[in-house]
Amino acid sequence: MNAFFAAYCRAFQTAFHLLMPLFPYRMPEILNNVREIPGKLSERNVSAVLLVTDSALRRSGVTSALEEALRDAGVRCTVYDKTVANPTIADAEAAMQAYRAGECGAVIGFGGGAALDCAKAVAVQAARPDKTLRDLKGILKVHAKLPPVFAVPTTAGTGSEATAAAILVDERTRHKFQISDFCLIPSYAVLDARDTVSLPPFFTATTGLDALTHAVEAYIGRSTTRYTRRASVEAVRLIFRFLERAYRDGGDLEARKGMLRASYLAGTAFTRSFVGYCHCVAHTLGGRYNVPHGLANAVLLPHVLRAYGSSAWRPLKDLSVALKLADERTPDFVAAERFIRAVTDMERRLDIPEKFDCIRPEDIAQMARYAAREGNPLYPVPRLMDARELTRFYVATAENLGDLAETAENLDSLAETTENLDDFAEKAENVWKPLKYGPLRGNKGTTS
Ligand SMILES: [Fe+2]
Repeated sequence: MNAFFAAYCRAFQTAFHLLMPLFPYRMPEILNNVREIPGKLSERNVSAVLLVTDSALRRSGVTSALEEALRDAGVRCTVYDKTVANPTIADAEAAMQAYRAGECGAVIGFGGGAALDCAKAVAVQAARPDKTLRDLKGILKVHAKLPPVFAVPTTAGTGSEATAAAILVDERTRHKFQISDFCLIPSYAVLDARDTVSLPPFFTATTGLDALTHAVEAYIGRSTTRYTRRASVEAVRLIFRFLERAYRDGGDLEARKGMLRASYLAGTAFTRSFVGYCHCVAHTLGGRYNVPHGLANAVLLPHVLRAYGSSAWRPLKDLSVALKLADERTPDFVAAERFIRAVTDMERRLDIPEKFDCIRPEDIAQMARYAAREGNPLYPVPRLMDARELTRFYVATAENLGDLAETAENLDSLAETTENLDDFAEKAENVWKPLKYGPLRGNKGTTS
């Protein structure tokens, strides 16, 4: 990355970090059960709500206790159950129509991150009818009091129940973007492990690894606080302790509870300390190919952590020590590598694939640009990378490059010689090679 832009990024991040104590961060009020929702609605004089969920979840009966409680309390409930993975602007607008038709005064997101983000997007539209969702892309553009948002996560998870952002896909460009403002932090989060027991093993694993990615990226970034460090470490410990148990036995309530807590803690951490390039690249894969968000993060995480090189060794060592994989006397890079290997070992046991089979060379330049635009200058990552450098992660994780790999020389030389990203796809024909990061390569401080 060019030095001037790098200096600008770091100055921007430092200013944001210094201003952080002045920002109106808050925690959602925690409810233990959906049956507490009607009481909270009546406190706020709300007599009609929109329930945003997905059809499979509703058919499974998971939402029926809530619908019954609302009915018993005389609250009118309009249901929007067409939420899909990676919700689009059109989805959020359709949900908004239901909100208006039902003359609702609050919104309940019930499901995975998609339902929660769609519910937040409804609240944003209710508060800012003068703007489109496209107008509100980015950070701190909403500036309004939202109707009450209740987040009922059924995955553990996206952490959306604790975050200040809604992630949507612009269906015109397949660009996944966020609307981020403090007012998007839900008013209430219902953390009931029983709501997560029906989550199938694959989604238990991938959403759990999304939570792990939140905790790790929040911890290794340069804008942490004492709270976010503590929350991240606790989340990492809980995930290593409980994720595999929840994956093997969905009915293990103790494990489900631990994961729900981990997801929430990681959400509170990353909404203050941000994520990193793993999320930037994952968002582009979700936007372009609908790769489930947690799966994208899971596959990318080890690659991104190694690419940060020595800039991430010390914080990764802390996590390694927290998991008792190393102690203070262990050299930083060895401890960091042990942590990364613990992640990849766990991912293998959770049957996470090592590659994506959907990446098309001709899409990489655009996706890398989107990823860089999301991360820079906002995310206080350990080591800055521009779009050209981010291309390595697509190549490293693309499965369908078999023949090209034979003629490949080295991705790094491509990254250094490709001045114009638009030429990338053409040049890539000759130099594709899935990256092979040596375990302790780059003693000088970087694996790139
Ligand atoms: Fe995430």
